[in-house]
Amino acid sequence: MKVIIGKTAGFCFGVKRAVEGSLNQIKDNKKVYCLGELVHNKQVIQKINEKGIDVIDNLSEAKEKKAKIIVRAHGIDKQTYKMAEEKQIEIIDYTCPFVLKVHKYAEEYSTKGYYILLIGSKKHPEIKGTASYCGNHYNIIENEDEIDEIITNINNSGWKQILVISQTTFGIEKFTKMLKQLKKKLNKDILLEVKNTICNATKLRQDEANDISKKVQCMVIVGGKNSSNTKKLYDVSIRNCKSTFLVEDETEIDINSLKKYEVIGIMAGTSTPYESIEKIEKLLKNV
Ligand code: F3S
Repeated sequence: MKVIIGKTAGFCFGVKRAVEGSLNQIKDNKKVYCLGELVHNKQVIQKINEKGIDVIDNLSEAKEKKAKIIVRAHGIDKQTYKMAEEKQIEIIDYTCPFVLKVHKYAEEYSTKGYYILLIGSKKHPEIKGTASYCGNHYNIIENEDEIDEIITNINNSGWKQILVISQTTFGIEKFTKMLKQLKKKLNKDILLEVKNTICNATKLRQDEANDISKKVQCMVIVGGKNSSNTKKLYDVSIRNCKSTFLVEDETEIDINSLKKYEVIGIMAGTSTPYESIEKIEKLLKNV
Protein backbone atom coordinates (compact mmCIF):
# COMPACT_ATOMS: atom_id res chain seq x y z
CA MET A 1 0.00 0.00 0.00
CA LYS A 2 1.26 3.46 -0.88
CA VAL A 3 0.91 6.04 1.88
CA ILE A 4 1.03 9.79 1.26
CA ILE A 5 1.61 11.91 4.37
CA GLY A 6 0.93 15.63 4.32
CA LYS A 7 4.11 17.66 4.69
CA THR A 8 2.30 20.08 7.01
CA ALA A 9 0.60 17.37 9.11
CA GLY A 10 0.94 17.77 12.87
CA PHE A 11 1.95 20.47 15.34
CA CYS A 12 1.81 24.09 14.23
CA PHE A 13 4.16 26.73 15.53
CA GLY A 14 1.73 27.89 18.27
CA VAL A 15 1.05 24.41 19.66
CA LYS A 16 4.72 23.41 19.52
CA ARG A 17 5.63 26.54 21.47
CA ALA A 18 2.92 25.87 24.09
CA VAL A 19 3.78 22.18 24.56
CA GLU A 20 7.58 22.61 24.68
CA GLY A 21 7.30 25.73 26.82
CA SER A 22 5.01 23.99 29.31
CA LEU A 23 7.32 21.02 29.64
CA ASN A 24 10.22 23.41 30.31
CA GLN A 25 8.26 25.08 33.12
CA ILE A 26 8.34 22.01 35.34
CA LYS A 27 12.12 22.01 35.44
CA ASP A 28 12.25 24.58 38.25
CA ASN A 29 10.29 22.23 40.54
CA LYS A 30 7.45 24.63 41.13
CA LYS A 31 3.95 23.28 40.64
CA VAL A 32 2.38 24.40 37.39
CA TYR A 33 -1.23 23.99 36.29
CA CYS A 34 -2.80 24.43 32.92
CA LEU A 35 -6.02 26.41 32.73
CA GLY A 36 -8.14 24.03 30.65
CA GLU A 37 -6.57 21.33 28.48
CA LEU A 38 -3.35 22.55 26.84
CA VAL A 39 -4.35 21.18 23.42
CA HIS A 40 -7.24 19.13 22.07
CA ASN A 41 -5.28 15.92 21.92
CA LYS A 42 -5.43 12.99 24.37
CA GLN A 43 -1.85 11.80 23.82
CA VAL A 44 -0.37 15.23 24.47
CA ILE A 45 -2.52 15.76 27.58
CA GLN A 46 -1.47 12.38 28.91
CA LYS A 47 2.20 13.18 28.32
CA ILE A 48 2.08 16.50 30.14
CA ASN A 49 0.02 14.98 32.98
CA GLU A 50 2.68 12.33 33.43
CA LYS A 51 5.28 15.10 33.69
CA GLY A 52 3.27 16.62 36.53
CA ILE A 53 1.23 19.35 34.85
CA ASP A 54 -2.41 19.03 35.88
CA VAL A 55 -5.41 20.71 34.35
CA ILE A 56 -7.56 23.04 36.43
CA ASP A 57 -10.79 24.69 35.38
CA ASN A 58 -10.67 27.90 37.36
CA LEU A 59 -8.28 30.32 39.00
CA SER A 60 -9.52 29.73 42.55
CA GLU A 61 -7.88 26.31 42.52
CA ALA A 62 -4.58 27.89 41.46
CA LYS A 63 -4.80 30.44 44.26
CA GLU A 64 -5.36 27.75 46.88
CA LYS A 65 -2.42 25.77 45.56
CA LYS A 66 -0.14 28.81 45.15
CA ALA A 67 0.62 27.60 41.65
CA LYS A 68 1.65 29.17 38.35
CA ILE A 69 -0.86 28.97 35.54
CA ILE A 70 -0.25 28.08 31.91
CA VAL A 71 -2.46 29.79 29.34
CA ARG A 72 -2.84 27.63 26.25
CA ALA A 73 -2.43 28.66 22.61
CA HIS A 74 -6.18 29.44 22.16
CA GLY A 75 -5.86 32.23 24.70
CA ILE A 76 -8.22 33.31 27.46
CA ASP A 77 -10.68 36.12 27.99
CA LYS A 78 -9.91 39.57 29.32
CA GLN A 79 -11.70 38.97 32.62
CA THR A 80 -9.51 35.98 33.43
CA TYR A 81 -6.33 38.06 33.05
CA LYS A 82 -7.84 40.64 35.38
CA MET A 83 -8.86 38.04 37.92
CA ALA A 84 -5.36 36.50 37.88
CA GLU A 85 -3.88 39.91 38.58
CA GLU A 86 -6.26 40.52 41.46
CA LYS A 87 -5.52 37.11 42.96
CA GLN A 88 -1.78 37.62 42.32
CA ILE A 89 -1.52 34.43 40.31
CA GLU A 90 1.48 34.19 38.02
CA ILE A 91 0.55 33.50 34.41
CA ILE A 92 2.76 31.84 31.82
CA ASP A 93 1.14 32.93 28.64
CA TYR A 94 1.38 30.71 25.56
CA THR A 95 -1.44 32.38 23.66
CA CYS A 96 -0.46 32.07 20.02
CA PRO A 97 0.62 35.43 18.52
CA PHE A 98 -1.93 34.91 15.74
CA VAL A 99 -4.72 34.70 18.32
CA LEU A 100 -3.36 37.81 20.06
CA LYS A 101 -3.54 39.61 16.72
CA VAL A 102 -7.26 38.83 16.49
CA HIS A 103 -7.76 40.14 20.06
CA LYS A 104 -5.96 43.30 19.02
CA TYR A 105 -8.19 43.86 15.97
CA ALA A 106 -11.31 43.25 18.07
CA GLU A 107 -10.26 45.73 20.74
CA GLU A 108 -8.99 48.36 18.32
CA TYR A 109 -12.06 48.33 16.07
CA SER A 110 -14.62 48.16 18.87
CA THR A 111 -12.94 51.22 20.41
CA LYS A 112 -13.21 52.95 17.02
CA GLY A 113 -16.97 52.37 17.04
CA TYR A 114 -17.23 49.38 14.71
CA TYR A 115 -19.84 46.65 15.14
CA ILE A 116 -17.96 43.34 15.12
CA LEU A 117 -18.92 40.11 13.41
CA LEU A 118 -16.86 37.26 14.73
CA ILE A 119 -16.99 34.13 12.58
CA GLY A 120 -16.30 30.91 14.45
CA SER A 121 -17.61 28.13 16.68
CA LYS A 122 -19.58 29.61 19.57
CA LYS A 123 -18.37 27.06 22.11
CA HIS A 124 -14.70 27.20 21.16
CA PRO A 125 -12.44 28.68 23.89
CA GLU A 126 -10.65 30.88 21.35
CA ILE A 127 -13.94 32.52 20.32
CA LYS A 128 -14.94 33.05 23.95
CA GLY A 129 -11.59 34.78 24.51
CA THR A 130 -11.83 36.95 21.39
CA ALA A 131 -15.44 37.91 22.17
CA SER A 132 -14.25 39.49 25.42
CA TYR A 133 -12.28 42.04 23.34
CA CYS A 134 -15.22 42.96 21.12
CA GLY A 135 -16.89 45.42 23.49
CA ASN A 136 -20.68 45.36 23.74
CA HIS A 137 -21.64 45.34 20.09
CA TYR A 138 -20.84 42.12 18.33
CA ASN A 139 -22.25 38.82 17.07
CA ILE A 140 -20.64 35.44 16.79
CA ILE A 141 -21.69 33.73 13.56
CA GLU A 142 -21.14 30.03 13.25
CA ASN A 143 -23.32 29.09 10.28
CA GLU A 144 -24.65 30.54 7.05
CA ASP A 145 -28.29 30.31 8.20
CA GLU A 146 -27.65 32.91 10.95
CA ILE A 147 -26.41 35.61 8.56
CA ASP A 148 -29.64 37.01 7.13
CA GLU A 149 -31.21 37.82 10.49
CA ILE A 150 -28.03 39.35 11.93
CA ILE A 151 -27.38 41.54 8.88
CA THR A 152 -31.02 42.66 8.73
CA ASN A 153 -30.72 43.82 12.36
CA ILE A 154 -27.47 45.66 11.60
CA ASN A 155 -28.98 47.29 8.49
CA ASN A 156 -31.92 48.50 10.55
CA SER A 157 -30.05 49.76 13.57
CA GLY A 158 -27.98 52.57 12.10
CA TRP A 159 -24.50 51.02 12.24
CA LYS A 160 -22.10 52.75 9.86
CA GLN A 161 -19.05 50.49 10.11
CA ILE A 162 -18.58 46.75 10.53
CA LEU A 163 -15.51 44.63 11.14
CA VAL A 164 -15.43 40.95 10.20
CA ILE A 165 -12.84 38.70 11.86
CA SER A 166 -12.68 34.95 12.27
CA GLN A 167 -11.47 32.15 14.51
CA THR A 168 -7.88 31.29 13.51
CA THR A 169 -8.81 27.67 12.80
CA PHE A 170 -12.01 28.25 10.86
CA GLY A 171 -12.69 26.55 7.50
CA ILE A 172 -11.48 28.77 4.65
CA GLU A 173 -14.13 27.74 2.18
CA LYS A 174 -16.94 28.26 4.69
CA PHE A 175 -15.53 31.66 5.69
CA THR A 176 -15.40 32.75 2.03
CA LYS A 177 -18.98 31.63 1.44
CA MET A 178 -20.24 33.36 4.57
CA LEU A 179 -18.45 36.56 3.63
CA LYS A 180 -20.04 36.55 0.20
CA GLN A 181 -23.50 36.09 1.66
CA LEU A 182 -22.90 38.80 4.23
CA LYS A 183 -21.66 41.31 1.63
CA LYS A 184 -24.72 40.67 -0.52
CA LYS A 185 -27.10 41.38 2.33
CA LEU A 186 -25.33 44.35 3.98
CA ASN A 187 -26.52 47.86 3.10
CA LYS A 188 -24.12 49.40 0.60
CA ASP A 189 -23.65 52.57 2.66
CA ILE A 190 -22.19 50.60 5.61
CA LEU A 191 -18.40 50.49 5.63
CA LEU A 192 -17.23 46.88 5.70
CA GLU A 193 -13.73 46.06 6.93
CA VAL A 194 -12.64 42.41 6.63
CA LYS A 195 -9.64 40.85 8.34
CA ASN A 196 -9.22 37.26 7.32
CA THR A 197 -7.64 36.03 10.55
CA ILE A 198 -7.57 32.33 9.67
CA CYS A 199 -3.93 31.54 10.40
CA ASN A 200 -1.48 30.31 7.82
CA ALA A 201 -0.95 26.97 9.59
CA THR A 202 -4.68 26.27 9.25
CA LYS A 203 -4.72 27.37 5.63
CA LEU A 204 -1.71 25.26 4.61
CA ARG A 205 -3.13 22.15 6.25
CA GLN A 206 -6.58 22.59 4.70
CA ASP A 207 -5.02 23.20 1.26
CA GLU A 208 -2.88 20.11 1.59
CA ALA A 209 -5.79 17.96 2.83
CA ASN A 210 -7.70 19.16 -0.23
CA ASP A 211 -4.85 18.25 -2.63
CA ILE A 212 -4.07 14.84 -1.15
CA SER A 213 -7.70 13.78 -0.83
CA LYS A 214 -8.08 14.23 -4.60
CA LYS A 215 -5.25 11.79 -5.29
CA VAL A 216 -6.03 8.89 -2.94
CA GLN A 217 -8.72 6.26 -2.43
CA CYS A 218 -8.87 6.71 1.32
CA MET A 219 -7.89 9.48 3.78
CA VAL A 220 -7.02 9.08 7.43
CA ILE A 221 -7.23 12.29 9.44
CA VAL A 222 -5.39 12.03 12.76
CA GLY A 223 -6.29 14.22 15.69
CA GLY A 224 -8.56 14.91 18.63
CA LYS A 225 -12.26 14.58 17.86
CA ASN A 226 -12.77 17.81 19.82
CA SER A 227 -10.06 19.62 17.83
CA SER A 228 -11.56 22.32 15.63
CA ASN A 229 -8.84 22.33 12.99
CA THR A 230 -8.76 18.51 12.80
CA LYS A 231 -12.51 18.46 12.14
CA LYS A 232 -12.03 21.03 9.37
CA LEU A 233 -9.44 18.75 7.71
CA TYR A 234 -12.01 15.98 7.84
CA ASP A 235 -14.65 18.26 6.24
CA VAL A 236 -12.25 19.28 3.46
CA SER A 237 -11.17 15.70 2.71
CA ILE A 238 -14.55 14.05 2.69
CA ARG A 239 -15.71 16.36 -0.08
CA ASN A 240 -13.12 14.80 -2.40
CA CYS A 241 -12.74 11.35 -0.90
CA LYS A 242 -15.79 9.58 0.52
CA SER A 243 -13.61 7.09 2.43
CA THR A 244 -12.26 9.62 4.91
CA PHE A 245 -11.84 8.59 8.55
CA LEU A 246 -11.04 10.68 11.59
CA VAL A 247 -9.09 8.76 14.21
CA GLU A 248 -7.44 9.80 17.47
CA ASP A 249 -4.81 7.07 17.30
CA GLU A 250 -3.84 3.83 15.53
CA THR A 251 -6.10 1.69 17.75
CA GLU A 252 -9.15 3.16 16.02
CA ILE A 253 -8.09 1.92 12.60
CA ASP A 254 -9.82 -1.16 11.23
CA ILE A 255 -6.92 -2.33 9.14
CA ASN A 256 -8.87 -5.14 7.41
CA SER A 257 -11.32 -2.69 5.93
CA LEU A 258 -8.45 -0.64 4.44
CA LYS A 259 -6.73 -3.55 2.68
CA LYS A 260 -8.67 -2.92 -0.52
CA TYR A 261 -7.04 0.49 -1.05
CA GLU A 262 -3.82 0.98 -2.99
CA VAL A 263 -3.16 4.59 -2.03
CA ILE A 264 -4.03 6.12 1.34
CA GLY A 265 -3.44 9.69 2.48
CA ILE A 266 -2.69 10.88 6.02
CA MET A 267 -3.28 14.36 7.34
CA ALA A 268 -3.22 15.53 10.93
CA GLY A 269 -4.43 18.52 12.90
CA THR A 270 -2.20 21.18 14.42
CA SER A 271 -2.41 19.57 17.87
CA THR A 272 -1.45 16.06 16.74
CA PRO A 273 2.05 14.95 17.78
CA TYR A 274 4.24 13.47 15.07
CA GLU A 275 4.54 10.15 16.96
CA SER A 276 0.81 9.53 16.40
CA ILE A 277 1.23 10.09 12.66
CA GLU A 278 4.24 7.78 12.50
CA LYS A 279 2.43 4.95 14.28
CA ILE A 280 -0.39 5.12 11.73
CA GLU A 281 2.04 5.31 8.83
CA LYS A 282 3.82 2.19 10.08
CA LEU A 283 0.55 0.34 10.49
CA LEU A 284 -0.63 1.17 6.96
CA LYS A 285 2.70 0.47 5.31
CA ASN A 286 2.71 -3.04 6.76
CA VAL A 287 -0.52 -3.98 5.05
FE1 F3S B 1 -1.55 29.58 16.31
FE2 F3S B 1 -2.69 28.89 14.09
FE3 F3S B 1 -1.58 27.09 15.59
S1 F3S B 1 -3.41 30.39 15.53
S2 F3S B 1 -1.88 27.84 17.62
S3 F3S B 1 -0.52 28.75 14.52
S4 F3S B 1 -3.47 26.84 14.47
